[in-house]
Amino acid sequence: MNVIEKIWAKARSGGKTIVLPEGDEPRTVAAAEIVAREGLAKPILLTPERMREKADAYAAALYELRKAKGWSYEDAAKRVADPMYYGMMMVQTGDADGLVSGAVHSTGDMLRPALQIVKTKPGVKLVSSAFIIGCPNKSLGEDGLLLYADCVVNPCPTAEELAHIAVSTAETARTLCGVAEPRVAMLSFSTLGSAEHELVAKVREATKIAHALAPEVLLDGELQLDAALVPEVAAIKAPGSPVAGRANVLVFPDLQSGNIGYKIGERLGGAGGFAVLQGLAKPCNDLSRGCSVADIVNTIAVTAVQATAL
Ligand code: ACO
Repeated sequence: MNVIEKIWAKARSGGKTIVLPEGDEPRTVAAAEIVAREGLAKPILLTPERMREKADAYAAALYELRKAKGWSYEDAAKRVADPMYYGMMMVQTGDADGLVSGAVHSTGDMLRPALQIVKTKPGVKLVSSAFIIGCPNKSLGEDGLLLYADCVVNPCPTAEELAHIAVSTAETARTLCGVAEPRVAMLSFSTLGSAEHELVAKVREATKIAHALAPEVLLDGELQLDAALVPEVAAIKAPGSPVAGRANVLVFPDLQSGNIGYKIGERLGGAGGFAVLQGLAKPCNDLSRGCSVADIVNTIAVTAVQATAL
């Protein structure tokens, strides 16, 4: 079974309810039909009628959650009229197990309410993302499976934030994708001291912090992409590294390199996939506005699996 087949199988056994705030978007409607037919989850397409059901109760609950941040009751009531906030309140109150959105809305539109309402899991400082990528070249990563982070959320992570991203992504590789041994490469334009720059120093520092946070995780840096993935290059540039030449998790130093990197892989190399958010207390996932119906189905399935694991 490939990773998608495994995720579909796990989703089927969970019976989770996933809210879709973009309830009249045609690809989302088509995806919801497939999800229901295949038994992957129980989808809820949000409509203006549905949003009248609990608007007052959610406005009151949202006001309680955000009043310390200076929101008035009117602020909360106005937000709850927005499907993204209404959907997020369904997840927060347990009326849904997870949320998938983003076929129309921007990533920021979806992330902000998730961060304000659902917030991070206990013990987790930072929400970030992992792209689950299938490469045509099966000699790379874990039989062609690679995880990239963070290509969606944190524009400019500090060394400490980068370390948390690395540890969360190793965890996602293990728990969601069934990777028995995550091997994490902390990417840079330098390999183990081949260049000196403050940007390289940040990755080196992040590697040190990540080792301290999760000593059991196989993690090395700083590594260039070729040294991380190609055994022959690793033998020259990073002999003896436990990760170089066999990495299955790639941690980019910032959002620009991560976002550009995954799109280069997808458009030039045919290495496509989908993103999951990691670190949220309840699962909410974002779509690309260019997503296909299949992407939405897979993202709903993976959200259902994340909800099962909670
Ligand atoms: N983890 C946990 N909490 C966070 C994080 C994070 N990474 N980032 C922000 N927060 C919290 C803040 O603490 C704050 O909480 P509070 O209001 O309870 O105090 C809340 O979220 C809002 O924080 P702000 O800093 O005011 O939010 P901001 O307006 O900066 O938005 C956002 C945060 C949406 C994540 C922003 O950083 C962003 O837009 N990131 C990039 C998204 C993007 O465009 N990605 C690329 C495209 S995606 C693609 O191509 C697939």
